[in-house]
Amino acid sequence: MKTNAIYCGQAAKVLGDTLEFPDESVDLIYMDPPFFSNRNYEVLWGDGYELRAFEDRWQGGIENYISWMESTVRECHRVLKPTGSLYLHCDWHANAHLRLLLDRVFGESQFVNEIAWCYDTAGRSQSYFNRKHDTIFLYGKSKGYYFNLPRTSFVDEGSFSHEDPDGRRYRIRTNSNNGKTYKYYMDEGRGMNDWWADCSALPQNDRERLGYPTQKPESLLERILNASSKHGDIVLDPMCGCGTAIAVAHRLGRNWVGVDVSPTACQLMVKRMRGLGVPIADTDILGLPKTEEEIRAMPPFEFQNWVVRKLMGRVSARKSGDMGIDGWLFDGTPIQVKQSETIGRNVVDNFETALRRAKRTKGLVVAFSFGKGAREEVARVRHVDGMEITLRTVKEIMEEA
Ligand SMILES: C[S@@+](CC[C@H](N)C(=O)[O-])C[C@H]1O[C@@H](n2cnc3c(N)ncnc32)[C@H](O)[C@@H]1O
Repeated sequence: MKTNAIYCGQAAKVLGDTLEFPDESVDLIYMDPPFFSNRNYEVLWGDGYELRAFEDRWQGGIENYISWMESTVRECHRVLKPTGSLYLHCDWHANAHLRLLLDRVFGESQFVNEIAWCYDTAGRSQSYFNRKHDTIFLYGKSKGYYFNLPRTSFVDEGSFSHEDPDGRRYRIRTNSNNGKTYKYYMDEGRGMNDWWADCSALPQNDRERLGYPTQKPESLLERILNASSKHGDIVLDPMCGCGTAIAVAHRLGRNWVGVDVSPTACQLMVKRMRGLGVPIADTDILGLPKTEEEIRAMPPFEFQNWVVRKLMGRVSARKSGDMGIDGWLFDGTPIQVKQSETIGRNVVDNFETALRRAKRTKGLVVAFSFGKGAREEVARVRHVDGMEITLRTVKEIMEEA
């Protein structure tokens, strides 16, 4: 297994390569799958593949979702070391079903905690109590799972009225059932509860935000990693989105492996990690489409994102349909991306209209190849309307990189 690397692919398939991911090789797994409720997010970030996968997952209802999850959970269980543990992040839609799945795969006795991650985001109901927590299940691979209980300070420090000769303050509590007395030292802190209300969800304008809709706060991952891994351990996130777990793993001195099926997520992760000063070489990104055939086979939205990012541009905020502008170069030039061959005159024509709407006089069209009509139209538009439309093939873009 390559550590400090990003694998682009389906988690069950990537981890299922037992030579690459041997049994008992990982210390900690944090998995935050697309929730059973995440329809909108997935479609928003969706692409052909995700959309299909998403529809498949939903069509058979919760059973289908759970059987889709099962293969990944089984691989996670296989790669965990005996001292390792898994955190599975979910919400009320599927948590009951996921708990049963985890019981089946890990064994009921390996259940450690059901953590309620509480937040107070916008959105209120009149018909039920506001649903303002996610569930994070913690399972140990064996009874010998590593755990370092996080501690907080006592809220009632005034009640530590006794003092040791060395100045340590403590209090005495008596168990009313058995009459035994216990000594609690203030400086040892209080073991943390299984409900966390102090790692707030990221507000829309938070500087940590990267634009990934389901991005989790680093404070949440920090707590998990500190509790269940040590310096130098291997942390795996098999569905890592924009890479919160791996960014925190890097910061805390852990080795990390990130997997995500979406090339867009993987590229975002690369950007995030490079932004942290992690020298990720292209060879540390495995499975990203690289050849023209692989790029040709990319789902449409992923293809668009790939082209725009390759040009160091910015993807258009609009996520669906093709209204003419798919992205913008850094200097504000509009880009249109076509995942087809022999682009004709009409595409250039329509793009000219989009440019006019956007009040621009130059633009770029990217496709696999262009027909004679397209080239003639570019010349005509330049001559008659003074507009500068450039045509570039995917091959040219690949060669430039
Ligand atoms: C809820 S998001 C994870 C968010 C992440 N924890 C973060 O903080 O950015 C779920 C991710 O799972 C990915 N995903 C969906 N199906 C997958 C699969 N079969 N294998 C790997 N990743 C998958 C999606 O692309 C998405 O990025």
